[in-house]
Amino acid sequence: MFLISVVGVAAVIICFIVPLNGAASRGLSGIGYIKAAKCNFILNIMGIYSTVDDIINRRRNRLKLPQKKDQVAVITGGSRGIGLEVVKKLLKCEMSVAIGCRNVLSGEEVVKKIREDGILSGDVKVYHLDMESMTSVREFAVKVKADYPKIHVLINNAGIMFAPFKLTGGDDPLNPVMESHFSVNYAGHFLLTHLLLPNLKNAGQEDIQHARVVNVSSIAHFAGDINFEDIASEKCYMPGAAYAQSKLAQVLFTRHLEKLFQDSDIPIHVYAVHPGVCDTDLFKGTYIKKAMPWLVHFFFKHPARGATTIMFPAVAPTAESLGGTYLSNCEVYTPSASARDDTKAKELFNYTCTLLGIEQFIPQVL
Ligand SMILES: NC(=O)c1ccc[n+]([C@@H]2O[C@H](COP(=O)([O-])OP(=O)(O)OC[C@H]3O[C@@H](n4cnc5c(N)ncnc54)[C@H](OP(=O)(O)O)[C@@H]3O)[C@@H](O)[C@H]2O)c1
Repeated sequence: MFLISVVGVAAVIICFIVPLNGAASRGLSGIGYIKAAKCNFILNIMGIYSTVDDIINRRRNRLKLPQKKDQVAVITGGSRGIGLEVVKKLLKCEMSVAIGCRNVLSGEEVVKKIREDGILSGDVKVYHLDMESMTSVREFAVKVKADYPKIHVLINNAGIMFAPFKLTGGDDPLNPVMESHFSVNYAGHFLLTHLLLPNLKNAGQEDIQHARVVNVSSIAHFAGDINFEDIASEKCYMPGAAYAQSKLAQVLFTRHLEKLFQDSDIPIHVYAVHPGVCDTDLFKGTYIKKAMPWLVHFFFKHPARGATTIMFPAVAPTAESLGGTYLSNCEVYTPSASARDDTKAKELFNYTCTLLGIEQFIPQVL
């Protein structure tokens, strides 16, 4: 009993003081250290919870891939990690897949490898996309819209975690200054969803199956808060808090947008999904991966299983009635209290529209 208590207390202390990340915080003072410790604690605890949950619910995380010939899926960050595994599954569904990634040549190499490995169904095109630049997001959207008049599935997957402090954009009013997690994980996807709306709507069918937008969020959103006073973390930067803020923003966006679509009878559903704690490059540079790579390899979910979790809202017929929800392991989970705050969701939505120069998120012509 004594030993269990000592281990328990030590574990709690470690959760508070050991940040998951290697990147440095900036501008911390007084209360900032307490906030950083609280954020680390929640990230560590939720990470452990999710890892256990992924193991326990392994059997639920299953999906029979439906045939979706002639349907189109667009995915950001599809050439590595979980996104790459999602691309393989979309192709197995015989879909046409548009991948947005930073390095088109390496994306095309990845596609070649997929084909060599025997996945020959579906077709796939690789486009340049850098989510740190809203100009790049706009260019990507123009090309994809021209090539695919109907888009059935949009998977907002690209992401960064625990990156060093960086401000993106600023060269153009339509490419505003943003903190990099906010830009890559949330705002770039917000803009992309807005720009692809006409094509998503074209694909959505009122009575059969709506088009679907899947926001790949994270259980890390439980540690998040939307800090409207310093949303770009210029005064005080904590990598964990910046990641958690962007992931919370994705869940708030999901819930608010689903309501807007329902209110306007637009045949598109929006989902937020936590893919599980997966062994990918996202953890590169974290203490856990450096110190105990075997532990990560052994206990974390394989990216292919994380991809199944994302495929569920993207293509499963049974997900049709689950628009606006937060999912993991092919089931609905309750998101954090902050993520369920409708007032905050609306405030963030309006803030982001103003920031990105979007006058009407849902154009009247739709
Ligand atoms: N792994 C996990 O345990 C976990 C848990 C919860 C949520 N997630 C979420 O799952 C998603 C995928 O993560 P992952 O684990 O597969 O990570 P990953 O292996 O590091 O892959 C990240 C992907 O995002 C792309 N990306 C990063 N910055 C970009 C930018 N500026 N512009 C365009 N694309 C960019 C990368 O493309 P490049 O090849 O161009 O770098 C890569 O394809 C992320 O949104 C992440 O937050 C992951």
